[in-house]
Amino acid sequence: MELPIRARRNRKNSAIRDLIRENHLTVKDLIAPLFVIDGKGQQIPIKSMPGQARLTVDLMIEKARNLWELGIPCVSLFPALEESLKNSSATESYNPNNFYQKAIKSLKSALPELLIMTDVALDPYSSDGHDGLVDSETGEILNDQTIEILAKMAICQAQSGSDIVGPSDMMDGRVGAIRTALDQASYENVSIMAYTAKYASSFYGPFRDALDSAPKGGDKKTYQMDYANGTEALRELQLDQLEGADIMMVKPGLPYLDVIYRLKQNTTLPIAAYNVSGEYAMIKAAAQNGWLDEAGVILEMLTAFKRAGADMILTYFAEDAAKLLSGSKVSAE
Ligand code: PBG
Repeated sequence: MELPIRARRNRKNSAIRDLIRENHLTVKDLIAPLFVIDGKGQQIPIKSMPGQARLTVDLMIEKARNLWELGIPCVSLFPALEESLKNSSATESYNPNNFYQKAIKSLKSALPELLIMTDVALDPYSSDGHDGLVDSETGEILNDQTIEILAKMAICQAQSGSDIVGPSDMMDGRVGAIRTALDQASYENVSIMAYTAKYASSFYGPFRDALDSAPKGGDKKTYQMDYANGTEALRELQLDQLEGADIMMVKPGLPYLDVIYRLKQNTTLPIAAYNVSGEYAMIKAAAQNGWLDEAGVILEMLTAFKRAGADMILTYFAEDAAKLLSGSKVSAE
């Protein structure tokens, strides 16, 4: 054939593929979410997330040290509380002596350079399993009253040594309120990673198993976004940007690559993708059945986030990916 243009020339061997590769996944792109519980020396596996466990503070620090030694720059801590500590006003969330604050403090003193991201939302502490306060008569999720609690939580976490607070609640105005509260308390160097486009998703199921935090009544659709909407994410972007977010996140990840792309095209702020629990569970289940090549899928999926425009990725595969990227073997779970 007379074919002067042949796209395959740029794929003819791995050396040339390396030269023309557009996007690179590195261990420095990864944030590892970890589940923390009170106590010592205990590790409680999460059934729907094979390979992940709720860890007591000592074991969490051990895990974080491994991750840091693998080159992972940041962990995101989520507390799992006993039911007896939960109530309808989520008061334990801003108790400066709760075990979550102790976990942050101990981790900061053990690994001062590791970035600690902390979670700002009511659901781990709420007996209603919602991210905001619930009006006991109407069932409404109360925006403005919730924000007062979120601001107190953020200050507690900053006091304990959090580097980045992550409001995962989707209340209106919370980024601005948290920024003001942090600044007034002289925590102007604590960053905010806003869950900017967080969708009401069925992909969070395993995470809610991990925290026993599923909503007791109703769903999260009056605050989390409708998965049918993309343009609306740009509205959230404008708000979070004006309110002082440092990094904006899209969540879930894999079914929302278009949203990551759109946000990236419309802001100069860095974008994070959250590769959520349900995405992790799907791949683990398929791999355990021998239906998918797990290592291949992990690297392809995480690189796809980069291609879509994500600067960083929160993923339960962080440790596996770090090992794969450094060429060492990943043990099957
Ligand atoms: C709640 C919160 C959720 C996740 C992170 N923070 C679940 C929810 O909104 O119900 C999900 C993370 C995951 O699925 O991995 N504030």
